[in-house]
Amino acid sequence: MPGRWTDLDRPPLSAAALNAVARGGGLWREIRVVEETGSTNADVRVAAEQGEAEGLVVIAEKQSGGRGRLDRQWESPARASVLMSLLLRPTVAAARLPLLPLVTGLSVVEAVRAVAELPAAVKWPNDVLVDGRKLGGILVERTPDGAVVVGIGVNVTTRPDELPVPTGTSIQIAGGVPDRESLLKEVLRAVERRYAVFAASGGAPDSVLPAYREVCDTVGRVVDVQLPDGASARGVAMTVDDGGMLVVRGADGVERTWSAGDVVHVRAEG
Ligand code: BTN
Repeated sequence: MPGRWTDLDRPPLSAAALNAVARGGGLWREIRVVEETGSTNADVRVAAEQGEAEGLVVIAEKQSGGRGRLDRQWESPARASVLMSLLLRPTVAAARLPLLPLVTGLSVVEAVRAVAELPAAVKWPNDVLVDGRKLGGILVERTPDGAVVVGIGVNVTTRPDELPVPTGTSIQIAGGVPDRESLLKEVLRAVERRYAVFAASGGAPDSVLPAYREVCDTVGRVVDVQLPDGASARGVAMTVDDGGMLVVRGADGVERTWSAGDVVHVRAEG
């Protein structure tokens, strides 16, 4: 078992320092830091099902069963990443909830730009990219009683040989400032700011989409939308509509909207 300071590039998080974010009387009530867990999303879901109020944050130094979108796994070495899940209880209409993953993606991009000093962008709906490579991902899950679990993973000091996929990157690989604690705090502040505006507007598209479209790198590109059943559809990404869906014009000139699926950026159009 490695000691706390075995890997000097990867200092442990300080729960006390992180809890400074929860002392202001804002959205975040309690920040729990755990050494290892299966999945922070699973932990927050259990807490939500037991009636936990909005504003719980669970952060892990390591996950043994981290979950990604589309039933994938999310892997990271210990203390190399931001691995956290947030508990929200939005009161906006159900039709507005598909905008929440976009609110989160926008917030994480803003935090990465501010703290890591990298030109981060979003790949629809909410992959965080730097130089076209995946730096981070977001998994938003709903519980039966209307709670929302927002899971965020960002690679910070991950080395090339530790990346689970060759198309990934980390803040360190991309030449940014690899300060995990500052990034965690800024992600929490950014989500709090953006979620407050979104919730206060009743989930109005205008509360998030203009800013989201500014940081979204998908629109204007030729994309392959890969569907859960294995099929895929190629076309030009035209816009992200007011429901948060991706509008893609196929070679037949027909525009189709996608609410889910994995998008591959093929090339810039033209
Ligand atoms: C994706 O596939 O792009 C989403 C990845 C989300 C990973 C994070 S890590 C913290 C939280 N806990 C999980 O099990 N998953 C999310």
